[in-house]
Amino acid sequence: MTSKTTSKPKRLVVAIDGPSGAGKSTISKILAARLHFTYIDTGAMYRCVALEAKKQHIAVDDEAALARLCREIDIRFQWEGKTNRVFCNGEEVTEEIRTPEMDMLSSAVSAVPAVREALVAMQRRMGEKGPVILEGRDAGTVIFPQAEVKVYLDASPQVRGRRRFLEQQQRGLSGSLEQVIEEIRKRDLNDSSRAHSPLAQAADAHHLDTTGMDIPEVVEAITELIREKAGNGD
Ligand code: DC
Repeated sequence: MTSKTTSKPKRLVVAIDGPSGAGKSTISKILAARLHFTYIDTGAMYRCVALEAKKQHIAVDDEAALARLCREIDIRFQWEGKTNRVFCNGEEVTEEIRTPEMDMLSSAVSAVPAVREALVAMQRRMGEKGPVILEGRDAGTVIFPQAEVKVYLDASPQVRGRRRFLEQQQRGLSGSLEQVIEEIRKRDLNDSSRAHSPLAQAADAHHLDTTGMDIPEVVEAITELIREKAGNGD
């Protein structure tokens, strides 16, 4: 096999955590495409569990049924152009998992210990294969505490709300900016106050407040962190 201009490190884990709307998905997708890393959207996996629970009429407090659902669920990602297509039990759910209802339901199922245990095990298996970018809430604290690069992306609730609002408008969803900011606050509270691996910054993560930054600036800052590690041959 001939080696090309940029050599890809065999095993480098980049963990990008932070609250909703901090820009994790946008930034992680650009980085993964640019560096040819596998992209794992861990939030999409909780969203698949939420959607499947709704379809199967499973209540969020029925932990045994959710555990069974997680044992049986088949989640796959397919990278296409700039889209990370999501398939759940063989069916495409890329759009269906992104509704405001799934925002709240995924946050609720993600607090269930059996769901977290099952998904973390899946995420570790997916991440073992090569250089990866994982985005989520616990990528650098629980899934891969030994990740070579850890970033905690943050921004004010107003800025995060505005970003989500614009995203939702583009997808033709209704709702006011105030509603979106309120939901962001609620989800922040759910995600950071749950007993089982709450959203938290790893002690060794780089904290990046993106409130006043544009996308290329954030991408550049993280690329630099990755280059430093990749260059070290760690
Ligand atoms: O990143 P997202 O908005 O797609 O995530 C959906 C929900 O899943 C979010 O409210 C919190 C939860 N989540 C989690 O608990 N742990 C992760 N690693 C990723 C997401």
